[in-house]
Formats: sequence, C-alpha cells, structure tokens
Amino acid sequence: MHLRLPHLALVSVLGASAAHAQVDIVSGARWTDTSGNTIQGHGAGILKVGSTFYWFGEDKSANSALFKAVSCYTSTDLATWTRQNDALSPQSGTMISTSNILERPKVIFNNKNQEYVMWFHSDTSSYGAAMVGVATAKSPCGPYTYKGSWKPLGADSRDEGLFLDDDQTAYLLYASDNNQDFKISQLDSNYYNVTAVASALNGSTLEAPGIVKRNGVYYLIASHTSGWDPNPNKYFTSSSLHGTWSAQNDIAPPATNTYFSQNAYDLPLGSNAIYMGDRWRPDLLGSSTYIWYPLDWSSGAPQIVHADVWTVNVNAGTYSVASGTTYEAESGTRSGSATLLTDSSFSGGKGVGYLGEGGSVAITVQGQGKAQWVALYYANGDSTWRNTTVSVNGGSSVLVDQPNTGSGHVILSMPVKLNLNQGSNTLTFGAGMSTYAGDLDKIIVYSS
Ligand SMILES: *[C@@H]1O[C@H](CO)[C@@H](O)[C@H](O)[C@H]1NC(C)=O
Ligand SMILES: *[C@@H]1O[C@H](CO)[C@@H](O)[C@H](O)[C@H]1NC(C)=O
Ligand SMILES: *[C@@H]1O[C@H](CO)[C@@H](O)[C@H](O)[C@H]1NC(C)=O
Repeated sequence: MHLRLPHLALVSVLGASAAHAQVDIVSGARWTDTSGNTIQGHGAGILKVGSTFYWFGEDKSANSALFKAVSCYTSTDLATWTRQNDALSPQSGTMISTSNILERPKVIFNNKNQEYVMWFHSDTSSYGAAMVGVATAKSPCGPYTYKGSWKPLGADSRDEGLFLDDDQTAYLLYASDNNQDFKISQLDSNYYNVTAVASALNGSTLEAPGIVKRNGVYYLIASHTSGWDPNPNKYFTSSSLHGTWSAQNDIAPPATNTYFSQNAYDLPLGSNAIYMGDRWRPDLLGSSTYIWYPLDWSSGAPQIVHADVWTVNVNAGTYSVASGTTYEAESGTRSGSATLLTDSSFSGGKGVGYLGEGGSVAITVQGQGKAQWVALYYANGDSTWRNTTVSVNGGSSVLVDQPNTGSGHVILSMPVKLNLNQGSNTLTFGAGMSTYAGDLDKIIVYSS
C-alpha cells in the first residue's frame, strides 16, 4: 500500500575516483538503502568518522515499538546509505530484550579510550522505567557491548541525545521528571555515566533534543511532548551549556507542526546544519519516513528551509535546493464532484477540493522523458491521514499518502516519482477512489 519508489539507491558510478555525485534528498518519500530495502533508522543519530557518516537508528520493520535492533548505515554523501551489521541486538533477560523499548540511539567517540560509546533511551513497554542505556564498541558499527540501563542521577530520562563539545566534554540531553523538566548533564571522561546536571529547563516539557554549536553559541533544538503526533519544534540559545537558556523560538511555521515531523538529530553543515526528523506513523511504525531539511542561519536564527528536492555537498558544507515548475490545481480540468475552493492559504487563493469519491482533476505538465519528482501541495482540512491516486497519461495509478494537516487549510507537500513523457503529460489526481483525497493546491514538477 505504500509507494515503492526506486530512490536514493541507484547512483551512477562514475569510476573508482568518482567525483561527489549529487544525490537528491526527498523528505517524506520511502528511502531505500543500496540493497533496495526501506531504511530503518528511526530516531536517528549520526556519527562522522573520517569521510564516512554512520547513521544509527531504530529498526521498526516489525511495525512494533518494541526493540528489534539498532541499525547502522554508512554513507559518504548523506544520501546513498548502505546497511551494515546491526550495531546492537536484543539480549533476553535484560533491559534490552525484545519486550523492552530502545529508542534514539546516539554514538560519540571517546578519544581517551579510543572507544565508541552509544547512549539510548532504555525503557519497559509501558515507558515506566525511564532510563538511559549505554553500550560500547571499538569500531563504529560495533557490534556494541551493552553495559547497562539506569536512571541518570536517579531521575527519569526518556527522549535523549548527546552533545560532544569541542573540548571533548560530552553531555546527555534528556527529558526528565516525567517529561516536565529538560536537563543537560555532563558525562564522565569515559562517557559511561553522568556526573552532574549542567543546566535544566524546568517545566519546559521538551523532548527529541539535539544541539548545534555555532560561533560559540549553543542552539538546543527540541520538540514539545505530544506522543507520536508532531508539534512545532523549537530552538533555545545559550552561550554556555550551564545556561541560562533563552525563551523558545520556532524553527518552522508553527501551523505545519515542523512539516509534520519531530527532531531526531541536527548535523552541522558548514555554517548551517541539517534538521533530521522523523515523520512518525504510529499505526505502521516501520513506514515512518524521514524529514531532512536544511537548517539555515542566514536570517540570524536557525530556520528550516522547506525543500521538496535538495542536494548536499558534504565537502563544501553547502546545500542546494532544486527548483521546479509549478502548476496550479485550479488550472486543471475538474471532473465529477471536484470543486473549486477559495482560501487565502492556497497559492493564488484557489485550490481543488472534493477529490476522490468520484471527483478528480487532470493537470497538464511538461515532462523530460524520464522519472521525475512531483510534489503535491495539499490540505486535508481535518486531523486524519488521507491519500490520493495519481495516474500519468491514463496509466495505472499510484497512491500517495497525505499525512494529517490538521484543521484549517495548512498546506503540506508530498513527493511522488513519476515516469513522464518528453513534452506534454496529463496527471490525474483523485480518480478511482472510494475515500476523499486531500484538497489539492498545486503541484511542482522537478527535473530530477
Ligand atoms: C552513575 O553515577 C551515579 C552517581 O553519580 C551512581 O550512583 C550510579 O551507580 C552510576 N551508574 C553506573 C551504571 O555506573
Ligand atoms: C529545576 O528544579 C530542580 C528541582 O526539581 C532544582 O534543583 C533546579 O535548581 C531547578 N532549576 C532551574 C533552572 O530552575
Ligand atoms: C487511504 O486513505 C483512506 C482515508 O482517507 C484510508 O481509509 C485508506 O486505508 C488509505 N489507503 C491506504 C492504502 O493507505
């Protein structure tokens, strides 16, 4: 039922000393590894060793919240990922058995001991234990040796992250005290335990944290607490990890709920960073997707750049947002119950509603005779997930999920890769469905 898109996996090989291929990052699509399997790296943590990035995450392929494995993927371009051995596997009779919860694995390198140290949220299936877990290895993917789970300084720890400062001092970032207080605690020199709370944002109800340090300022990025549902993620600044932290500020237009995602990791990129979030799908956890966007400081503060299709140049520390050709839904040909809608949130003030259940709209676009990304800008107008059929030139249709946009006309975009003919193509949305699709605002056709 989900999109099966060849994507990210097929990189043209330019030869042994290949120049850096520019591979698209397309958030919300199904991302596959170099073997063609869906990437299972939820609650991500990224580690860079030499020129290789390691992506650690939760393998949720069993569609269960319970612990299956901490996966380990490698890449040199942040877009093409190869799955390696599992970094950490369940151990019966411990807090990391298959009946427990293990979330948000993060790895840092301890220079003193020449050892990789993994921290994670370690819990029972009811989330009642609220512990950290620690494991160590001599190589980035391990496999890691589990050391144990406990409550840091005797207090709760649920969602967590790590921050390694320039002076090799490391910190645990964690939701504590029944998720009411958010704390930053310093680790010992082995990175095996915490020693003391450095700062706390009491009563802040934050989770899903990451920190980016930029020009001596620490930017804490975190969500609030709303279970699997997304909320407007925030940033806080401080010149010291010992505080005092600023008031919260938005990293994205709050109505979008961080483009329907929750922070997992924030990776520095040149003078900016990459926001790496999860778009959780609680009823089908293994189909949760990844929302990665540039986090750009050019306004003076970290702001997500909404980019349907973009590339990163890891060597230059830069990113590039693809531009495409926009086609307004209202300029398409409506059939059946499809209705022209007027609302200021639609581009041009207009969109098309009552798609599905007999309503459809056909939009003529120009193609380049190849598979191309098409972004559907839509609004569901309520708090349900929908989906829409799309067919090209009357061919068989593919289904595109349309995550909950909330009430009102909040616009989100979803990508789909379509094989377009050279020249004119007719794309039909909403035909042959027995449920309502989202209202369609516009589509953008990209050249790759
Ligand atoms: C972590 O440190 C605390 C004291 O700060 C101690 O009580 C606890 O036993 C330590 N835990 C481990 C697993 O070493
Ligand atoms: C947060 O609350 C704890 C007690 O729960 C207190 O020890 C600490 O000083 C408080 N921190 C701040 C920054 O208010
Ligand atoms: C499509 O969305 C409808 C709700 O609008 C839902 O009932 C149906 O299960 C979805 N279909 C798939 C295949 O996800």
